Amino acid sequence: MKLLVTGGLGFIGSNFIRHILSARKSVHVVNLDLQTYAGNPQNLADVASDPRYRWIKGDIADPKAVEKAISGADAVVHFAAETHVDRSILDAAAFLRTNVIGTQVLLDAALKTRVGRFVHVSTDEVYGSVPKGFSKEGDLLEPNSPYAASKAAADLLVRSYFVTHKAPVVVTRASNNFGPFQYPEKAVPLMITNWIDEQPFPLYGDGLQIRDWLYVVDHARAIEVVLEKGQVGEVYNIGGTKHFTNRELIETVRDLMGVPKDLVKPVPDRPGHDRRYALDCAKLKKLGFKHRFGFEQAMKETIHWYRGREDWWRPLKKQGGYQAYYEKQYSARLAASK
Ligand code: DAU
Repeated sequence: MKLLVTGGLGFIGSNFIRHILSARKSVHVVNLDLQTYAGNPQNLADVASDPRYRWIKGDIADPKAVEKAISGADAVVHFAAETHVDRSILDAAAFLRTNVIGTQVLLDAALKTRVGRFVHVSTDEVYGSVPKGFSKEGDLLEPNSPYAASKAAADLLVRSYFVTHKAPVVVTRASNNFGPFQYPEKAVPLMITNWIDEQPFPLYGDGLQIRDWLYVVDHARAIEVVLEKGQVGEVYNIGGTKHFTNRELIETVRDLMGVPKDLVKPVPDRPGHDRRYALDCAKLKKLGFKHRFGFEQAMKETIHWYRGREDWWRPLKKQGGYQAYYEKQYSARLAASK
């Protein structure tokens, strides 16, 4: 089978490609990735010379690049997206272009070339904050950040292509991922790498926001299951194994790393910050998916990975673009809290 994977140089996409190449010897992957700030060829250095893998540098919003990459593909797994909520608050334009227009360009190309299956990788953030209970796939979409709104728009577009054009689409909505190769702007890698350097982790607001933590390798395995067994036109939630507050997350990681308590700095909250996400994953379980990794084991492996891969994350944190972003995002918050 020939798979077109979009955004395969990013965190979740690269973990998926590594997984699928090792799990399915008959799969060939074309990775269409523009290599934006969070896309990194080093994330796939170990498979770069595999004859079953090819990277095409290109933009999913560019029909010509997509036409070239999709040629001969049996299926598409679409990860490419702007993903960071805080960045979407500073500037939403790139989110609309990549997440919405990019998805439309891909869907049109998939229709034209009669691709057999199109897996659209989305997020639990489309449901908005869930004060109690668990989001089911048919629930109302009430996104609260520009990022979440752009993903919800893409989900609805995918749905419309199924209803209108009978496109063979499946949507997945995952919770918060963590694991190797996650760009150090997200909470978990920021925490671990700051603490390796004995720097504080900036905790937004009261830290009582609840997230559901999913190890990226299990996420990759779940997408493989949906790719193979998911029903066309359906949505599948993909949740993790640990559901708790950011304060509890911090305590767990701190204990695993042996870090002193004062390395947490409360800062003003993220505007529009969702209080709680929680997914009902019964549909995915019915397809036969089971998590392979417990939270603590996966977090230990993640910490071990960041400790051993300073060569990967230090250059990223030193880059001018990262420094400027960090300055904007965190220094202002830290200063405001003094
Ligand atoms: O729920 C799935 C989503 O998870 C994905 O769709 C997004 O692409 C991904 O970025 C993530 O969104 P979050 O906003 O939940 O992730 P983030 O790592 O930015 O933050 C996790 C929690 O930690 C959130 O409640 C905000 C908080 N936080 C985050 C950062 C970066 C802090 O308290 N301090 C921080 O410095």
